Amino acid sequence: MRFLTFLLVVPVILYCLDALLPRAYIFDPARLQELSKESIAAANGNTTVLFEHLTDSLRKEYGEKHINKLDKDAWFFNNAGGAMGAMIILHASLTEYLILFGTPLGTEGHSGVHLAHDYFTILEGQQKRLIAGNHTADIYNPGDQNWLPRGWNSQYQLEGWALELAQGWIPSMLVFGFLDTFSSTLDIGNLWKTIWLTAKDMIGQLLVGKI
Ligand SMILES: *[C@@H]1O[C@H](CO)[C@@H](O)[C@H](O)[C@H]1NC(C)=O
Ligand SMILES: *[C@@H]1O[C@H](CO)[C@@H](O)[C@H](O)[C@H]1NC(C)=O
Repeated sequence: MRFLTFLLVVPVILYCLDALLPRAYIFDPARLQELSKESIAAANGNTTVLFEHLTDSLRKEYGEKHINKLDKDAWFFNNAGGAMGAMIILHASLTEYLILFGTPLGTEGHSGVHLAHDYFTILEGQQKRLIAGNHTADIYNPGDQNWLPRGWNSQYQLEGWALELAQGWIPSMLVFGFLDTFSSTLDIGNLWKTIWLTAKDMIGQLLVGKI
């Protein structure tokens, strides 16, 4: 009987928590796209200037306590779904992350299937995306934003840089971000950096009241 009650109650609790999740969000995808467009225009083709301009305006818009400074040592690699790129965490909490991600070399892979919505704003270069069933790719250029709804999958190719926002159950996404270390790269130093920087931000955000 107790077990039955448990089986009934847990899904209800999870359902309620899930419905409350958006209340914890601070980022607005449309605003991120506007800020990205302003920075693209201001940078005039210089990637370094673009990242600095965008980070500064994000820190002004959302507050310095929620957005990290750009620090060259805080960049690391991400291998996931067969794709590889460099990234830096601007914000990571239990319900949202905001990162700069990409590579000038070009990469291609599986998006993963996540318990989170994913908004990808192209800053430089181009992203191509294939949804199964389509026969032509969707193409995104600087200033364009695409949305991969929670639970969807896609094949993507990125040559350039993007601002990526994820909103949902962020800890559930981390497994996808870690697994290639064990099946492929064995880059334990990079894995340690990923875990350390993510945990540091998530705990730091909890301490300032951001779930
Ligand atoms: C981009 O801007 C930075 C900082 O102003 C400068 O050091 C660098 O040389 C520029 N890069 C190019 C390719 O112009
Ligand atoms: C691919 O499929 C999605 C979802 O059905 C649709 O929104 C999009 O317009 C399609 N793109 C192309 C290039 O056919």
